[in-house]
Amino acid sequence: MYSDYQHLIDLSDYPVSWWKKLIELGEDVKNDPAKYSHECAGKVMATLFYEPSTRTQMSFQTAMIRLGGEIIGFDNPANSSVAKGETIKDTTKIVSGYADILVIRHPIAGAAKAASLTADCPVINAGDGGHLHPTQTLTDLLTLKIEKKTLSGLTIGMCGDLLNGRTVHSLCKALSMFSNNKFIFISTKELGMPAYIKDIIKANGSTFEEVHTLEEVIGKLDVLYMTRIQQERFASEEEYLAQKNTYVLDRRKMQLAKKDMIVMHPLPRVDEITVDVDDDPRAMYFTQAKYGVYVRMALIMTMLKEKNRFETLKGKVYSGVRCSNPKCITNHEEYLPKSFRSSGDETLLECEYCDERKLI
Ligand code: NCD
Repeated sequence: MYSDYQHLIDLSDYPVSWWKKLIELGEDVKNDPAKYSHECAGKVMATLFYEPSTRTQMSFQTAMIRLGGEIIGFDNPANSSVAKGETIKDTTKIVSGYADILVIRHPIAGAAKAASLTADCPVINAGDGGHLHPTQTLTDLLTLKIEKKTLSGLTIGMCGDLLNGRTVHSLCKALSMFSNNKFIFISTKELGMPAYIKDIIKANGSTFEEVHTLEEVIGKLDVLYMTRIQQERFASEEEYLAQKNTYVLDRRKMQLAKKDMIVMHPLPRVDEITVDVDDDPRAMYFTQAKYGVYVRMALIMTMLKEKNRFETLKGKVYSGVRCSNPKCITNHEEYLPKSFRSSGDETLLECEYCDERKLI
């Protein structure tokens, strides 16, 4: 299935050379933002945020305003026709008739892909449930490029809710495409990295290890990527409380880290980094949030300039087969074609919207 517009649903839909060009452009924007201040004059960007956001939404909006464009959208679906039961298909169709580019965040995995099937303009995934968050990854790559001067040969610790954290899923997929990166996953066994991400890392030739405490590995890391326990993705309050406060980065633990390790976090932070770490020169999370504007400026300009036909669905519909993930958009919006990739023998299918695997 093809669209006449180019979309950013998952960075893996593009070659690494495309991401590299975006990061380079992001660096140039950072160094001379004024040069780009009229690039999007006369263009309108719509932000459809079905889920709370501070940084992602405001950095997208700031990016468009700094490019000379205009913004429309909602940040509370209760104030839009979504509250009356409108589908993603209809909302997307209508808003893409008003705007030149559409940015969507949604609590259900695969929602951005669903939007791209009907939109009459480019769609950018600003986070789909616990699945992916490609523009946070672009932000993270720009931060690493500027602050570590490389995207290769790094030992990266990822700590916290690796099961539900969409930022670490997208980041692992991306960093495993660069040579000699080594991942150390620090989580409880309940909140470990999903198997499909670990398989992608292996297939890309990178390595990973899994541990349960921060202290045992912090001294080895070049980058520590902290994440919040994603309370909103838990089935019950009890399950969340059992995980809360497991990992807290504080000054004492920072003493065990390398002098040039950097601490990243997509934010918001809850209690996983104590405020006394903020003054440590290795704390990079506030700078990281700022870099998000530059890379999103680069992305908006690029998406508005490039005019390539885009393959939205590459898989097959298997008669009677549906995705087994209750948090997949295909189980919420019935009209969507249920499309699966097969592993070769067609007994193991992967949902193209949320990546959930299914044996048939
Ligand atoms: C993250 C998100 O929404 O996934 N925040 C962000 O976009 N900067 C991380 C989080 O909510 O924990």
